[in-house]
Amino acid sequence: MKAKNLPDPGAGIPGVDYPAIDQSKCTKCGICLKVCAPVMYEMHDGQVALVRPDWCFHCGHCGAACPAGAIREAFSEPVPAGAPEIVSPAFSDALQLVFRSRRSVRKYKKKPVSREDLEKILEAGRYTATGTNAQTLRYMVITDPEKIDELRRIAFPAVLKMFAFVGRLTKIPFASRLMGEGLRDRMKNRYVEGMKLMEEQIRRGEDKLFHNAPAIILVFAEKFDETQAFSAAAALYNCSLMAHTMGIGCCFNGFLWMAINFDKKLRKWFDLPQHLKCYGAMTLGYQEVKYHRLVKRNPAKVEWR
Ligand SMILES: Cc1cc2nc3c(=O)[nH]c(=O)nc-3n(C[C@H](O)[C@H](O)[C@H](O)COP(=O)(O)O)c2cc1C
Repeated sequence: MKAKNLPDPGAGIPGVDYPAIDQSKCTKCGICLKVCAPVMYEMHDGQVALVRPDWCFHCGHCGAACPAGAIREAFSEPVPAGAPEIVSPAFSDALQLVFRSRRSVRKYKKKPVSREDLEKILEAGRYTATGTNAQTLRYMVITDPEKIDELRRIAFPAVLKMFAFVGRLTKIPFASRLMGEGLRDRMKNRYVEGMKLMEEQIRRGEDKLFHNAPAIILVFAEKFDETQAFSAAAALYNCSLMAHTMGIGCCFNGFLWMAINFDKKLRKWFDLPQHLKCYGAMTLGYQEVKYHRLVKRNPAKVEWR
C-alpha cells in the first residue's frame, strides 16, 4: 500500500477529528508509530501512512511527540513559554511534599470558594488520564447552601440505611470469607458503630456528613465501564491536589457517593440516568485548622518480584 493511495484523513484542525501527516515535513523517524496506542500509523514504502484514522482516540500523542511538527491535529498544543523544568529533583521533591502535606479537611471557614477557583480545580481533573482517553467523566459542583442543606437532609437517612445493610452483611455466616476478616471487622467496628455516634452528632446539629463545607464536587461516569472507577478517582484526586496548592482544603466523601449509588431517592435527586454511577465526591472549602507537621503512614505493602 502506498501512502498516497490512502484516504486523505483531513487537515487535522478543529472540526476534523483525526490527524494528518505533512509528508513534506515528515523525517520518517517513526516516533508517531511508537507513541500511537491505537496503532493508526504504519510505515509503507519508506513513508509514514495513517492507515487507521478511524481508530484515533484523540490522545494527541502523535502531534505532541513529532519532532518535525509534521503531524497536524487538534489535540495537542505547545508547552507554555517559561514553564518550569518538570523532570528535576527539585520538582519531584516539591511534588512529594504536595502529596505528603495534603490532608483531609473537615473544618471549613464560612468563606465561599469562588467560581474561578473551582474552575481551576476542575481543570486538574480534565487533564487526568481516562481509560482509552474516553474523557466521559461528568462533574457536578454544588455551592448553593440551600441545595447542600437539601442534599444533606436526603443523604443522611440514605447513609444510615446503607450502613444498616452493611451491618446485616457483616453478620452473614460467610461474611469474613466474602469480604475478608479485615474489612468485616472495619465495617462492624468502625462504620456500623461509628454510624451510631454520627447519628447522635447530626441530631445535635453538627454536620458530620459535609462538615459545613461551602462546596461539593461529585464525579459521575458510565456504570458498566470498569476503567471509569479509576479515571474518576484519579481525576478527583488531582482536583484535590490542585485545591491543596491553592490553599483550599478537601475531604473525599465516600459516604455520599456510595449512598447515591445505593439509594433510589438520592439517585432521583441527582436525576441520574440508569447507565451512570457516582464514582467520587468531595467537600471543599478554606480550612480552619492549619497543619504544622506532616503525618506518618505505614510502609507500603509491596511484593517485589
Ligand atoms: C475513598 C475515600 C473515601 C473517604 N470518605 C470519607 C468520608 O466519607 N468522610 C470523611 O470524613 N473522610 C473520608 N475520607 C478521608 C479519609 O478518612 C482520610 O483520607 C484518611 O483518614 C487519611 O487522612 P488524610 O487524607 O488527611 O491523609 C475518605 C478517603 C478516601 C480515600
